Parts: sequence; C-alpha cells; structure tokens
Amino acid sequence: MAFIGTPKVELHLHLEGAAPPGFIRGLAKEKKMDLSGIFDTEGHYAYDDFVHFLRVYEAACTTLKSPEDFYCLTLAVLEQSAANGVIYSETFLSPDFCGKGDVSAWKEYLHAIREAADLAEKRDGIVLRGVITAVRHFGRDQARKTARCAAETAGDWIVGFGVAGDESAGRLSDFAYAFDMAREAGLRLTAHAGEWGGPQSVRDALTHLKVERIGHGVRAIEDPRLVDELGEQNIVLEVCPGSNVALGVYSDWASHPIEKLRKAGLKVTVSTDDPPFFHTTMDHEFDMLHRTFGWDADVVREINITAARAAFCDDVTRDKILKKLETA
Ligand code: ADE
Ligand code: ZN
Repeated sequence: MAFIGTPKVELHLHLEGAAPPGFIRGLAKEKKMDLSGIFDTEGHYAYDDFVHFLRVYEAACTTLKSPEDFYCLTLAVLEQSAANGVIYSETFLSPDFCGKGDVSAWKEYLHAIREAADLAEKRDGIVLRGVITAVRHFGRDQARKTARCAAETAGDWIVGFGVAGDESAGRLSDFAYAFDMAREAGLRLTAHAGEWGGPQSVRDALTHLKVERIGHGVRAIEDPRLVDELGEQNIVLEVCPGSNVALGVYSDWASHPIEKLRKAGLKVTVSTDDPPFFHTTMDHEFDMLHRTFGWDADVVREINITAARAAFCDDVTRDKILKKLETA
C-alpha cells in the first residue's frame, strides 16, 4: 500500500453506503429481519448491476431504524475512515432513511449522528461535515421534503445539499425547486451526474441545479467541449474510481478517465462512495491510482489539497485541514 498514513480528504461518502456488512447483519439479527438475500456466501454485499445495487443498498437501510442505530453506524464508519488516514470527511446524509423526511424526526437522527461525530473527532481527530442528499428515484416531492430538512438544519455542520440515486429516473430540472430552497438556506450544492448518465446529465446539473461540484462527472470525458466548460467554471469533480469499476461504468482501472480529466486541468478529487459495496478504502483508491497511473506523493497531496479547498466547511475548519495536509 503506497499511501498508508498519508492524510486524506474525502468529499463523497454515503453514510449508509459505508455500513460494514457485518454491522448490517448484526442489526438484522437483533431485529429478527431476514436479509440473507443481499449477501454473498462470504458475507459481502451482492448485486448484479447498478439498479440492483440501489435495491440492495435500500434493503440494508431498512435495518437502520433509530437514532441509536445511526449513532453506532457513524462511529463505525468514522473509525474505518480514520484508519485510512482520512482527516476530513464530507458525508452524504439522507433524511429519507432517517424518519422518512419528517423534519422533527430528522433533527433527532441528526443529533445522534453529531454526537457520534464529536466522539470520533476527540478519539481519532477526524472531522465530519454533512451534505444532505435527496434520492432521485424517490421523486420530486420527496426531494422537496428532504430540502426542507436540509434548510431547517443548515449551518456550520450541515454544509451542503445534493442528489444521488438512479440517474435515469425523472429529469434533473424537476429538482430545481429543492435545490433553490437549499441554496436560499445558505447550503452549497453538488449533484450526482455523469456516472450512469452521459455528458448531458452533467450539463443538466449545471444548468438546472447550479451546482459547484459534481458527484462522479466522469462521463464528461465523452464531450471535450464540456470538459472545457467544467474547467472554465471551476467545477470540482468528486471522482470515485473504485465505485465506477465495481459497478461496471468502466471495465478496469486502466480505462478509467480520472487521469485524462486531471491532465485536462480539471479539479478532480478522490472518494470511495460506498466502500464496502465496492471492496475499497481510501488507501486502496490511492494505491490503485499509484499502480495504474503512477500517482506519486506530490500528486496525492495536490489532490487532497484540491479536495480541502473544495470542501463546503467554514474557512477556519478548512485552514486547519490544509495545515495538516501541507505539513504531512
Ligand atoms: N447512492 C449511493 N451510491 C450511489 C451511487 N454510486 N450512485 C448513485 N446513487 C448512489
Ligand atoms: Zn455517490
């Protein structure tokens, strides 16, 4: 492993998607739920394709039923991240899985998540900030409820708003109202696009949602004019190469466009998305980028500094992170 112990900044991690399968199995057992169908014989999450992955993901989420479950989940996830050198994690939180989008229930879940984050920061030094995420295939009206949860809890800890889920469901323009609400509440914006959808989906996110970061965005590479526009507009890509390879967006690491996007001058960052689903970690991502594209310590530091600069946190927090990266 090339970059064990190197400090890292992760901008694209789904809290539920980071749940270790053993953790979810433990909850299922405790609650007498039969979830055996979502695991393979070795106990890993098992899925056939992207849509099936989303179904398995949502089945795993059905075990997370209370603020206490999210407290334990947050502690387990941050322990893993810190063990991979992550010093700052911007994590997608979904009110849809925390009280179904009800604002007062969401506040209770958030309280539990923040308590766990405070403990992890004291224990491991890792800093967590939340980006509230709507789920595209749950539809426009549910996204508006999610945006209301986001607006009600926006501040120096809930710092952003985004949308994930099935890129083929509905139109991104349907989500403009939810994004406008979040923007008016002072939240910074990102959207999953250009993962399963092509370049047009990235254009739609820029035009209709006016985001400053794109989750994935890698398929922009198919349109050189779009690559230029992303550069001109200073858009940051939250690239998750291991996720893209595991889900079959690209057949192998060598075919992944991250290096072409970086060489084209775009601001690329590296994240794991849903690490146990993709058999990855932040150490593994950077190790594979080293093996595949020859990334050395200077490139890795530059990528993590780009991520710290693109983080949605306040400047005092950012400066502390940058100092750790620069002095490492
Ligand atoms: N939700 C969790 N992981 C996701 C991904 N890779 N794409 C879209 N939605 C997601
Ligand atoms: Zn994602």
